[in-house]
Amino acid sequence: MILTNNSKNADPLGRYYTDPIVGSLLVNSIDIEPPSTVIDLCVGKGALIEEAVRKWSDSTFITVDIEKNSSPFSFNNPNNSQIFHYTENSLNLNLAERLGIKWGQADLALCNPPYIRPKWNKQFFEILEEANLSHVFQKKQDIPADMLFIAQNLRLLKKGGSLGLILPDGIITGEKYQSFRKTLCTNHRVSKVIELPRRIFKKTDAKAYIVVITKDIPDSDFITIQRLEESGNLSPQLQISTESAIKRIDYSYLVQSHKIGQQKKRSIGDVALEVFRGTYISSERKSNNFPIFHTTDFLTNKRYVPANYKLTLEMQKNIQGVIAIPGDILIARVGRNFNKKICLVDTKKVAITDCILVLRVQPKYRLEVFSFLTSSSGGIALEAISHGVGAKFITPKSLLELKF
Ligand SMILES: C[S@@+](CC[C@H](N)C(=O)[O-])C[C@H]1O[C@@H](n2cnc3c(N)ncnc32)[C@H](O)[C@@H]1O
Repeated sequence: MILTNNSKNADPLGRYYTDPIVGSLLVNSIDIEPPSTVIDLCVGKGALIEEAVRKWSDSTFITVDIEKNSSPFSFNNPNNSQIFHYTENSLNLNLAERLGIKWGQADLALCNPPYIRPKWNKQFFEILEEANLSHVFQKKQDIPADMLFIAQNLRLLKKGGSLGLILPDGIITGEKYQSFRKTLCTNHRVSKVIELPRRIFKKTDAKAYIVVITKDIPDSDFITIQRLEESGNLSPQLQISTESAIKRIDYSYLVQSHKIGQQKKRSIGDVALEVFRGTYISSERKSNNFPIFHTTDFLTNKRYVPANYKLTLEMQKNIQGVIAIPGDILIARVGRNFNKKICLVDTKKVAITDCILVLRVQPKYRLEVFSFLTSSSGGIALEAISHGVGAKFITPKSLLELKF
């Protein structure tokens, strides 16, 4: 199978290995009787299975990796537990047969799937179908590898079996994964989600989460979420409803809206007239005969758009893209320190790139919203609603949901 990834710098097999602290936290977050069979379909160097071997010495462990040089036995196996390793493609439709086991029998699966987008293969549809996940995406090119590995693990687990995963930000917070989260919360029990600090994986800035699922037992209305702090301590727990988890399940965002929600009632959406992105791409700026305001043009601690971006009446005649008008609030939606790049349009219209959001609110709330967004709590709230692997960004929808 050919595996592809959009990013040129990314590892083609998604080989980002887990820190032992995270492996231990994942294994200890799974509250089960000693399992008889434990599987890891992306074992790599064995960071997850090593912790499991230490905890459940009498279990049988089945490990798989596509890479021939993967060396899962380099770790300590103090009790000489039974470990069977296979060099296989874990996304094979007939995987159980190749591993000499039966579908629907494993007690526990651990998995840190590769962060890649696999080139589509007809068998993937059947894998998703059997795991009841085939309906969650409209387009097959939207299906990340994680989803296929989750499906394959669900096929191998028995009813009531546990799945301990490490998943990237998009699945946990992205709007386009809502249908997936709904299916997960409706058909299974998501018992725990722990947000991990950025840069916990060497060689990548990706944000990731520990997720623990029990197969086929949707018996709880609440999900426990937590955050592993930079200090190595776990935050207090927060219980969230499955309804809220369908929107997103990240602690940093939910704890913020929980606190803010207790004090504040009004959301930006309640007072907004419009929110939209600019239409010019940044590379067009040089070739145009009028200035286009971009994320690099915000001035630190300046309330208004710099004077050289104000469009004269003559310039406005050439404009085809959307433009901001006096009273609009401009917010960088992406890039470094985006949550500190906010300013007002004062006297003249301004052309903007697609990296900027234009927020137009009812005039009587304009200064209140602007003061909130530029305050330290506004900065934290913007940071909390951002998502994305590597470059973080905010969406119009999440901006409108902020309480001020
Ligand atoms: C993110 S690493 C995780 C490794 C280890 N479990 C950990 O947590 O440190 C993903 C692993 O999946 C393996 N992998 C990628 N595609 C695979 C496939 N189709 N079948 C089996 N293993 C695969 C990679 O070689 C890599 O070792």
